[in-house]
Amino acid sequence: MHKRHLLRATLAVLVAQGFALAPALAADPLKIGLILPMTGQQASTGRQIDAAVKLYMAQNNPVIGGRKVEVIVKDDASTPDQTRRMAQELVVNDKVVALAGFGITPSAMATAPIATQSKTPMVVMAAATSAITEASPFVVRTSFTLPQAAVAIAEWANKNGIKKVVSLVSDYGPGIDAEKYFADRITLNGGQVMEKLRTPLRGPDFAPVLQKVRDASPQALFVFLPSGQGAAFMKQFAERGLDKAGIRLIGTGDITDDDQLNDMGDVALGVVTAHHYAAAHKSPANQKFVDAFKKANNGMRPNFMAVGGYDGIRVIVEGLKASKGEGGEKLLNAMKGQLFESPRGQVLIDGQTRDVVHDMYVRKVERVGGELQNVEFDAIKAMKDPGKSK
Ligand code: PHB
Repeated sequence: MHKRHLLRATLAVLVAQGFALAPALAADPLKIGLILPMTGQQASTGRQIDAAVKLYMAQNNPVIGGRKVEVIVKDDASTPDQTRRMAQELVVNDKVVALAGFGITPSAMATAPIATQSKTPMVVMAAATSAITEASPFVVRTSFTLPQAAVAIAEWANKNGIKKVVSLVSDYGPGIDAEKYFADRITLNGGQVMEKLRTPLRGPDFAPVLQKVRDASPQALFVFLPSGQGAAFMKQFAERGLDKAGIRLIGTGDITDDDQLNDMGDVALGVVTAHHYAAAHKSPANQKFVDAFKKANNGMRPNFMAVGGYDGIRVIVEGLKASKGEGGEKLLNAMKGQLFESPRGQVLIDGQTRDVVHDMYVRKVERVGGELQNVEFDAIKAMKDPGKSK
């Protein structure tokens, strides 16, 4: 009697433990660490990417080998020391299979050594300096590169009789790339950069540089500024009368960012830029994306950052399906060579460089149905990063 009782009690404990353990194991999620600037100067980048990743997860609800995929969002306020610390914690404590996000180049660069040491794939969804993919063999990029956009707009300028240009860029990685690749290409084809101006990444004041532009009186001003600074720049460009002085504004698409474009006013009309994504891109896949994104976010229009995030989470999830939930080199290899239709058009993750290959569109700001839009009118197809062919 006593023995039977004990056995029953033991069984009860085992069963109870089993019941407790089984669901815990089954529910053990595959974690992705998403580090974004949700506050501070680059907060619009964080807001856009976070919204796009949430949309992808809601649309796809990925479960791989019985394990749910979970995204852990961390706000680094675009402070590279914080990015690095958060990446370290996500790898060591949360055991993430992938790191993702990276609103600015210094944040991506600060994290690259952690990706290498821990063999954790790191998907760059926003930052766009060419050299980031060379900072670690575990970096994969779904944003774009500044050399892609700068070369595409330089070629358009060359073909459209623009010979004398002043350049203005943000004084760090992507700006230095933009300045160099724009100048190299336009001079190769007989143009000239009369003056090269720079503004700081943090808290730029455009008044002094715009005065210099006015004095130099170029045919066009070429501009790269990081996402979020375009509207303030446009305002000052108009206030100083540069639009009326017949100086044409051209640039990379970061300055006519869809996040802000609709509120920029008439000064933005006619501005020609090159970029990989416009919310006005005409394709059924993009229409679907834009509609769903707006519906989920109070009418917010997705910008190029959102698409970098949407494609980036897709590359990770599809990679995890192929690696059967394994991280490390297996996941990295499953990301290389992915080819898919993005809202931007066709995207390839180059198997050699791990960088994004996509169409670079030339666009002009026009009023369409009462809204300002980047209207695409030309494209360089399947463009690789010109920064990699050195
Ligand atoms: C970058 O820091 O690499 C960066 C940030 C914003 C952009 C483009 C590049 O719009």
